[in-house]
Amino acid sequence: MTLTAGALADPLVERPAVDTTDLQTLAPGWAATNPLRGLAQAQAIGRQAFNQTCARCHGAEADGSRSPAPDLRRIGLACRRVKDAELKQRCLSDADHFFVTSVRYGKQKFGIVHMPPFDGVLEPALVYALRSYVETAPRP
Ligand code: HEC
Repeated sequence: MTLTAGALADPLVERPAVDTTDLQTLAPGWAATNPLRGLAQAQAIGRQAFNQTCARCHGAEADGSRSPAPDLRRIGLACRRVKDAELKQRCLSDADHFFVTSVRYGKQKFGIVHMPPFDGVLEPALVYALRSYVETAPRP
């Protein structure tokens, strides 16, 4: 796909220089829900990675202060209010899926790249660490 090839040629689409060796080993592939949710180490690594790779568009606190990139803190926020454990899990799964696919495939509309795809650049552990960080970013 030409969009992906173009984005990969973009020098700004590169893996952040973060060390993930201390993260727990994950099963290969993409999980149904973020396996690194709530882990301090993942949040710290995710924060570093976010600052290097995402903050230029989404703002350092993921708050969308750099319009037009949206506030990422609200993704899955409503799940916190869900009381039923099974339903809450499905809610989080859905939010994680949205986050992961947004990062992997980017956002293109009418052939214009609003966000480049990071598939093949960021491995699952790093995407989950990013997700873990965004969930801890200060909320309004
Ligand atoms: C070149 C700027 C740019 C970079 C770099 C970028 N994004 Fe985005 N991102 C955007 C824009 C703009 C949108 C909204 C696109 C749209 O919906 O049309 C978006 C949308 C998203 C969404 C969906 C949000 C929603 O509510 O619709 C997620 C999740 C996301 N980005 C995560 C990330 C992460 C994590 C990174 C770093 C790995 C990143 N982005 C890097 C510009 C960027």
